[in-house]
Amino acid sequence: MTKVLIAGGAGFIGSHLVDRLLARRDISQLVVVDNLWTGTKSNLQHISDNRLEFRQADVEAVDASGQYDEIYNLASPASPPWYMAEPMRTISANVIGTMRLIAALRPGGLLCFTSTSEVYGDPLVSPQPETYRGSVDCTGPRSSYDESKRCAEAMLFEARRTRGIRIRVVRLFNVFGPRTRPDDGRAVSNFITQGLAGKPITVFGDGRQSRSWGYVDDIVHGLERFFWLDGGDYPGPLNVGNDREVPVVDVAHFVRKRFPHCAIQHLPPVPQDPTNRRPDLTLANQVIPGWTCHVPYEEGVDRTIGWFRGLQPAAPAPRMRVPVAANDPDDAPSAPRRQGRPTSVATDPWN
Ligand SMILES: NC(=O)c1ccc[n+]([C@@H]2O[C@H](COP(=O)([O-])OP(=O)(O)OC[C@H]3O[C@@H](n4cnc5c(N)ncnc54)[C@H](O)[C@@H]3O)[C@@H](O)[C@H]2O)c1
Repeated sequence: MTKVLIAGGAGFIGSHLVDRLLARRDISQLVVVDNLWTGTKSNLQHISDNRLEFRQADVEAVDASGQYDEIYNLASPASPPWYMAEPMRTISANVIGTMRLIAALRPGGLLCFTSTSEVYGDPLVSPQPETYRGSVDCTGPRSSYDESKRCAEAMLFEARRTRGIRIRVVRLFNVFGPRTRPDDGRAVSNFITQGLAGKPITVFGDGRQSRSWGYVDDIVHGLERFFWLDGGDYPGPLNVGNDREVPVVDVAHFVRKRFPHCAIQHLPPVPQDPTNRRPDLTLANQVIPGWTCHVPYEEGVDRTIGWFRGLQPAAPAPRMRVPVAANDPDDAPSAPRRQGRPTSVATDPWN
C-alpha cells in the first residue's frame, strides 16, 4: 500500500488535491503537512477518512527519513501580497522545503511539485511554451516567489539527473475557485469579496493585462492526470492552465454584472505586473491527451460567488493598499496578516 505526503494540503489547491488522492484505494496513509500560513483546516473539514492525518508543521521540518512513496509539494503562498510580505519565508518554503522533501522520499518514490507560470516572468513570447526560459527580474518585488520556484525546479531536475529520483513538475497558470481565502488578495476573489461587501471593484491600471483563468476543478483534474493517472515517465515541466486569455478588466466587468450597485474603480498600475499570461498547451495535449479546461471563467466565477456567499461568517472585504501587488490571480491589493506561527509583524511587501 502507498504512503503519501502532501505539503500545503490545507491550502486552496492542495485541499482539492487531497480529495482526489483520497479517492484512490491504493493509498493507505495520507499525511497533510501544513503550517496554516495561508491555508486553513476548514478546507479539510468535510473529510472523514481515517487514512488522513493532519500535521501542523513547516514543510522545512518534515521527517527526512525517506519513508514516503509519493510526495506532493504545494507548500508555498501563491498570492503576491502574501509572499511579498514574507519573502524569506517564501524562499524557505520552496527551496528548503523541496530539499527536505527530496530526503523524505523513499528510494524509487515519486515527488510532484507545483511550480508556476511566474517562472516565465513578464513573458516576451505568447503563448508561453515550456521551452521559454522566461523574463524574470531576479531582484524585483516578485523575485522571492519566482526565483524560489525556479530554484526548486532546478533542484528537482538535478536530483533526477544525479540521483535518479522520479519527479513531476507542473507549471500552473492562474487558478481560481472555491476554498480561496476571502482575504487571499488575488483578482477573482478580490472582485467577489468587494462585490459582496458593496464596495468598488478595484482594477490596477487600465486592466488590459491579461491572464488565463483556470477553474480549480479543471486544473486539479489536470494535476491528477499528470501526477498519477497518465503522466508516464515524463518529468515535466508541464504547463497546466486555461489557454483562453482574458483581460483583468473584463473579469471585473463580468463580476460587476452580478453586483450592479458596485462601481469599477481603477487604481495606479502595480510595478512589474506581467502584461500577459497564456499557456502553450501543445505538450499537455501529448502528455495528458484529451485534458482541457471545460469550465469557462464566467461559469467558474458564478460558482465561486455561490461558494463565497455560503461562507459563515460573511467574508471580510480586503483592505486596499496601493501599490502592493498586481491584478494577477497571482496578485492582490490587501496586505495579509501574518499567520501560521508567531513572528514579528512585517506587512510592507517592499521590505
Ligand atoms: N493558485 C494559483 O493560481 C497558482 C498558480 C501557480 C502556482 N500555484 C502553486 O500551487 C501551490 C498551491 O497554491 P494555492 O493557490 O493553493 O495557495 P495556498 O496559499 O492556498 O496554499 C499553500 C499552502 O501551503 C501552506 N504553506 C505555505 N508555506 C508552508 C510551509 N513552509 N510549510 C508548510 N506549509 C506551508 C499554506 O499554509 C497553504 O495551506 C503553490 O505551490 C503555488 O505556488 C498556484
